[in-house]
Amino acid sequence: MLLQMQEFVREAHAVSDSHDYSHVFTVCRYTIEIAKNIEEKVDPFICFAGALLHDIGKTNRAFDHIHGLLGGTLAEEYLDGLQVNPKIRDAVARVVIRHTPTSKIPPVTTEERIVYDADTLDRLGLMGLLRGFVGKTGSMENILTKYMEKRKFDYAKLNFDYSRKLGDNLHHELLEFLLIIEDRLQSRMASIRHLFDQEGLVKTS
Ligand SMILES: [Fe+2]
Ligand SMILES: [Fe+2]
Repeated sequence: MLLQMQEFVREAHAVSDSHDYSHVFTVCRYTIEIAKNIEEKVDPFICFAGALLHDIGKTNRAFDHIHGLLGGTLAEEYLDGLQVNPKIRDAVARVVIRHTPTSKIPPVTTEERIVYDADTLDRLGLMGLLRGFVGKTGSMENILTKYMEKRKFDYAKLNFDYSRKLGDNLHHELLEFLLIIEDRLQSRMASIRHLFDQEGLVKTS
């Protein structure tokens, strides 16, 4: 059934941008990793089905801001079609609803908290940064500053020590990259500064 669900999700996400199937796949991977490394008992089906369906509400851009709530309803209907036990269906739908702060309903069960963390982790690190740039306009510095502020908030909301450990690793990877970028940008500016000087556009101190 999970394979059938995976195919459905892959097709549904084929046309979206930053929330394409690679994001869903990564969230599934983090979900498994967290579930395997925490002490709490986990229902593997609720966890994995929740991870697979978590952004199904994002497939309609008009509802981006309430995609968790919309996704919960879509997941419920879809799982009904597969004749999933109503108790399990509801538990999966709640994972979908509560995976995002935009639903304003914090995750409660272990499965809800795992998928919440897994989704957050894909916003951290290098890949998170790249996804953060998709569809954004404005200066690189502005996008980067806003991105870093939001990620601080995301990190603070992680539910498990193991998720924070994964988050720390991703953050270190990102910092190393930003140091390289900073260095490159500075040397680029230094190499073209004389052009501006000639035109009197840059005041030399
Ligand atoms: Fe989401
Ligand atoms: Fe997501």
